[in-house]
Amino acid sequence: MKTLGLYIHIPFCKTICVYCNFLTFANKSTYIDVYIEALKKEILLKSKKFQDYQVDTIYFGGGTPSLIDKKLIKQIIDILKINFNIDGNVEISIECNPESLNTEKIQYFKKIGINRISLGVQSLNRKTLWKVARPHNEIVTLQVLKELKDSNFINYGCDLIMGLPYQTLEEFKEHIDIILSFNPKHLSAYFLSYDTKRIDTFIKDSPKEEEQIEMYKFLIKKLKKEKFLHYEVSNYAKKGFECKHNIRYWNQEEYLGLGLGGHSFINNEVSENIRNFEKYLENPILIEDKYKLDKDIKRMDFIMLSLRQSIGINLNKYKKLYGGKHLQILLKNAHKYIPKELKYTTTHLKPTEQGFLILDRITKELI
Ligand SMILES: C[S@@+](CC[C@H](N)C(=O)[O-])C[C@H]1O[C@@H](n2cnc3c(N)ncnc32)[C@H](O)[C@@H]1O
Ligand code: SF4
Repeated sequence: MKTLGLYIHIPFCKTICVYCNFLTFANKSTYIDVYIEALKKEILLKSKKFQDYQVDTIYFGGGTPSLIDKKLIKQIIDILKINFNIDGNVEISIECNPESLNTEKIQYFKKIGINRISLGVQSLNRKTLWKVARPHNEIVTLQVLKELKDSNFINYGCDLIMGLPYQTLEEFKEHIDIILSFNPKHLSAYFLSYDTKRIDTFIKDSPKEEEQIEMYKFLIKKLKKEKFLHYEVSNYAKKGFECKHNIRYWNQEEYLGLGLGGHSFINNEVSENIRNFEKYLENPILIEDKYKLDKDIKRMDFIMLSLRQSIGINLNKYKKLYGGKHLQILLKNAHKYIPKELKYTTTHLKPTEQGFLILDRITKELI
């Protein structure tokens, strides 16, 4: 049986963070119930085509899935269980914000089968959080981290951003120590990406690129010491706690995106659900855009997505899919980066920690 990952988009937030580019709204809370009804309709209609698939990952992303009534999350899981073939060991992840998570919700999530929580910490500096319009301060975050630690919920992790206003290397180091004291199994740390028009107001207060790189280097060293695997350029996990759903994206495996603007990759076709909220409510199976992935684009994506992972490019697979000539060209282009930025083994071409730092450049040259 083929396997499938499901992504469920929950486009509601308490406030809109200054740097956010995700499809989400802070002024539509009165529409949450009708949105969930539309989502259920979409699930019923689309699931029919996936009866020969086994779902092994489900990911509630946003937006802020923890913001909506927890019973609605249960309703979605119930309807997924009825309409898809769900693997007994399915990974079910949910993105949560500190201000909308507490012990009661953690226990409830566990009871309904959610086995992975990703907490949006971003920073523990109060002034930073306020400046970017996060709806929580660090006290709230620390309280939730304590509740996660004290609960019997094992697999939780934290998301962080490097490059936010008022961040310094010294303070970042302190924050990492604090976060690690709560024993998370996973950490994601992204460099801030931004749209210059919207962010001009605070970018002047952000650490310079060199300081951000020092933060990244510190994190790599520190987390290695703490026995985390740096399994993707921005992701670290204790062994066995890597996010299976995200690995599915990076391995070009199939996934179905449900909800407003959800992205899918099925049968070599990439598609995006309608992004207009009102149109989605009227007809939740409308498609915004779709196209067949051309073989050469897929090959380039293969290189790019493999290089993001520490496992790197599987050379045998690459040769089998794209032929010996493409493999020769790949190795020729990679030559100047071996061994400092790329490690060449008999089976793989893997980015080193140095390589992760200049991944965009290496990727461009290799494709
Ligand atoms: C879908 S987002 C949001 C999840 C949740 N609502 C939150 O804000 O914590 C998932 C993660 O992407 C990262 N992220 C969001 N916007 C970003 C940006 N502009 N630059 C870098 N990372 C970003 C954050 O670390 C965030 O936790
Ligand atoms: S809470 Fe998360 S999804 Fe919502 S606006 Fe902020 S970054 Fe975006």
